Amino acid sequence: MKIASAALALLVSNALALPDPRFDDKPEKTAPVAAARVPAAAVNEADARVWVEFEAPGKAERQAAVDAGVSIEELRPGMAAGIAAPQALARAKAAGLKVRAVVTLRQRFGALDFPPKDAIYHNYGELEADMRALAARAPGLASVFSIGKSTLGRDLWAVRLTKGASGAKPGIVFLGAHHAREHLSTEVPLLLAKHLVDNRADPEIARLLETRDIYFVPMVNPDGAEYDVEGGKYHMHRKNMARNADGSTGVDLNRNYGWGWGGGGASPDPGDDTYRGPAAFSEPESRAVRAFVEARPNLKILLSYHTFSELILYPWGGTNDPIPDAKALSAFKSMAGEMAKMTGYTPEQSSDLYVATGDTCDWAWGEKGIFAFTFELTPKSMWDGGFYPGAAAVQKTFRANIRPALYLIDLADDPLRAAKGGASR
Ligand code: ARG
Ligand code: ZN
Repeated sequence: MKIASAALALLVSNALALPDPRFDDKPEKTAPVAAARVPAAAVNEADARVWVEFEAPGKAERQAAVDAGVSIEELRPGMAAGIAAPQALARAKAAGLKVRAVVTLRQRFGALDFPPKDAIYHNYGELEADMRALAARAPGLASVFSIGKSTLGRDLWAVRLTKGASGAKPGIVFLGAHHAREHLSTEVPLLLAKHLVDNRADPEIARLLETRDIYFVPMVNPDGAEYDVEGGKYHMHRKNMARNADGSTGVDLNRNYGWGWGGGGASPDPGDDTYRGPAAFSEPESRAVRAFVEARPNLKILLSYHTFSELILYPWGGTNDPIPDAKALSAFKSMAGEMAKMTGYTPEQSSDLYVATGDTCDWAWGEKGIFAFTFELTPKSMWDGGFYPGAAAVQKTFRANIRPALYLIDLADDPLRAAKGGASR
């Protein structure tokens, strides 16, 4: 019996090792650094304009500066400051203005960057650099690749973690920053990927890296995220940077997915923050996520990080009805409940928050049968910082989210086993 069962085990493991014909299982190659980078929208490196500060005891000096072509933006006692192209600066000096300081716009405004107090957050360039550094220090484990391009042509970077032959291992994907201003939702998946790499010798993490196929796409909406920090200040921007037919900017990517698209809680008005777009999957970002998922039928779990409110949400979001599959519902509830215990977040059906159609998770579950969760991360309320909870929130929120992430990665082999009373390990 012993031999027979060993032979059977071998047969089964061979069967499991057979390539899934639907799944192109080529290992991901880390993408080469592109020669030309997307120009920053407002203050890019090539921008020759400067921020100039000059003595201005009275209106005469200000007028001279303006007449020279300087745009005055700031007044202080005896001083004025503004933006000048090189030729305007030369004219202002020739007109006798006493220039006290000249810095590039990038130096003055931090270009497309976070305010100095929040510099710990990753802008798009820093995110790409960190992901590449991660892949570089863990060859054979981590790879970086693009799942597609944003509206403005930025690559949507993904990191894949899996050790050894990829095989048809059960997969999981962590998504961040569908919404531009929810910067913490980029930090958490990025730091989780780093955590797994840095702790790859830990036995539990080593087991997960060997037996699971783990993906992170920390910034699904890079155009919006970059715009949101443009000029070193926050813009409270939510949507992507699509130019709408009426001249307004942006589609709400979390209303643009193709399950129940066009229904309630998703505005048809392009000017609204929850504009669903002209059609399901009208946006390159949501299409890239769809293509990424469709190319990987081994994905069993998806987690889309958002901020804020400290919630753990499961489908449906587009209707108040529960999902029809009772066993799956019981798994969803028990997973959300377990992760709520780990984080202190509140578990509920998405539509308990509000009914909104076209979100990522309704599509992932409804169309693909992927166990899909939305996490609304720290803080709990607008009074604790809302979308901009500051530098201190990063480590704290990341730490709180390690256990739920490991729990889900473990469950990716068979999420339904959560229905039988929690993960078996
Ligand atoms: N705050 C997120 C959003 O508005 C959560 C959405 C959850 N889904 C839902 N249908 N309620 O996109
Ligand atoms: Zn959001």
